[in-house]
Amino acid sequence: MCGITAVAGPGDEDVVDVLLGGLRNLEYRGYDSAGVATPGDGGVSVVKREGGIDDLASALDAAAVAGSVGVGHTRWSTHGAPTDANAHPHTDCDDRVAVVHNGIIENYSTLREELLARGHSFTSDTDTEVVPHLVAERLAAGASAAEAFRDTVARLDGRYAVAMVVDGEDAVYAARDGSPLVVGVGDDRRFVASDVPSFLEHTADVVFLEDGDVVRVTADDHVVTDADGRRADRDVNTVDWQPEDAERDGFDHYMLKEIHEQPAAVERAVNGRITAAGGVDLDGFPPGSFGDVDDVQIVACGTSYHAALYARQLLAERGVPTQVFSAGEYATTPAPVGDDTLVVGVTQSGETADTLASLQAAADRGARTLAVTNVVGSTAARTCDDALFIRAGPEIGVAATKTFSSQVATLTLLAERLAEDVTGSVPEERAAVLRALERLPSDLQDVLDRAAVEPLAAQFRDRDGHFFIGRGVAYPVALEGALKFKEITYEHAEGFAAGELKHGPLALVTPDTPVFAVFSGRHDDKTLNNVEEVASRGAPVVGVASEESTDVVDAVDEFLPIPDTHPVAAGVLANVQLQLVSYHVADLLGRSIDKPRNLAKSVTVE
Ligand code: F6R
Repeated sequence: MCGITAVAGPGDEDVVDVLLGGLRNLEYRGYDSAGVATPGDGGVSVVKREGGIDDLASALDAAAVAGSVGVGHTRWSTHGAPTDANAHPHTDCDDRVAVVHNGIIENYSTLREELLARGHSFTSDTDTEVVPHLVAERLAAGASAAEAFRDTVARLDGRYAVAMVVDGEDAVYAARDGSPLVVGVGDDRRFVASDVPSFLEHTADVVFLEDGDVVRVTADDHVVTDADGRRADRDVNTVDWQPEDAERDGFDHYMLKEIHEQPAAVERAVNGRITAAGGVDLDGFPPGSFGDVDDVQIVACGTSYHAALYARQLLAERGVPTQVFSAGEYATTPAPVGDDTLVVGVTQSGETADTLASLQAAADRGARTLAVTNVVGSTAARTCDDALFIRAGPEIGVAATKTFSSQVATLTLLAERLAEDVTGSVPEERAAVLRALERLPSDLQDVLDRAAVEPLAAQFRDRDGHFFIGRGVAYPVALEGALKFKEITYEHAEGFAAGELKHGPLALVTPDTPVFAVFSGRHDDKTLNNVEEVASRGAPVVGVASEESTDVVDAVDEFLPIPDTHPVAAGVLANVQLQLVSYHVADLLGRSIDKPRNLAKSVTVE
């Protein structure tokens, strides 16, 4: 979705440079238009452009924008096409107020009608533009900027985060209700942003605002008031992300860097969570934590949904009744929950609207909720009964990579804790699973060190379609392989349960549709039958399997090896090979790998 950044007190730096830096760090949230605004004494100065941050930077070279506070925005359009006029910030008729916004204002058309009837004129098609006009009306009626902002925010319905500057004031006003917004607390300056990486190079001290909060931020202070207008004390948390985590570090793309970060990310996910005695020590979840759980429902979207399907395999094998739902569906049609149903939301960002809505629907029905997320202080982490962190570090590339591996590692540990608590017994297989998890970082490194997928990428860069098949844990890996492929190459790709092929998709298989067959080491013989089915229709087959699987090597045209390990870890390793195939095909095709068309990282609208 859109990215908001704002600074009060740029110190020795030019306010525009700080805003541009903050926007570049948020570009993964939206990249079809961008803009900045600073207040002066006779009005606000605004520069905004269709296109990316570089287009905005060129426009700013020729503009005189200065000051000691400012707001910026990078947009992923929802209301109104990506044009200069629809880019944020938006202003009132007299250019006294400039506003940036993320999310959707659901009652904007009613507000717009009202404002039009009172003589306001609009210059964009956005829902956002009602905000500066409403603020300006209150200012004209004698309200202070703080009062005008609070009164305006109180009139907005929907899920939003907004930030505002007003002429003559060295302050940023901001509010959230349903969309993320954080305050960065530096020594002599403060920031407001949709996400921490925006200002991480300046400070790691963060206030996570809550729904209903309104904040006034100056260089040396921030005052938060809650939904009832009372002063609210919000803790300052120090995040353990490093500024370099949010940089490209010599890699051509964030995605490639993040693929290579998987050994370290999984190490962090597992570190300290496996005891010397072979038990699971999940921070905050001692043995028995889930003793009253009867069944588990998992809600998630996209890559996180695939990690959830992966976890379901293990839970089902362990005898824990588990269902996985696409959060977009669950949010509209929640499944019945019992008194002892645990509903787990798997969400990297902790801000995905569908997942949050599903968790809320489950909580409203009396279920216990648990967020499995990457972001401390995210909405999911704060609103669920409990939170478990995957510790992947910031992921900037829009395509999720390292967070899938960290989710699977964390969910595997959670599954072991759940299985023990729910069934009252420790399965014999646990020791092998935990050993494989402990080995996973070095196995991941091995795959990365030995991977050589470029020739294969060149061979399959331009085909009619690309199919991915697997069963057991290899099934969600097939889905994830296809998602990554379509997302960044823009080529047609589909993932199937291997057994489903002959129930329809086989009709699409031709010599021009490479099939990527994923093997986890379990049920491989059945998947080999499916390989036969596609090979006999002339499709080239790429097998991703243990380097020791001679059966697979013999049956396929191309082979991508992974170290021999437990199936729970094998799927994660196979997924890395598929991530690299997608990456290199996209690179050969010259695609915008870190910012694929039409996509944004954190989807905060339903
Ligand atoms: C795919 C991708 C998306 C996200 C999905 C959920 O590469 O990144 O499919 O996985 O939008 O996001 P989170 O995990 O933040 O809830």
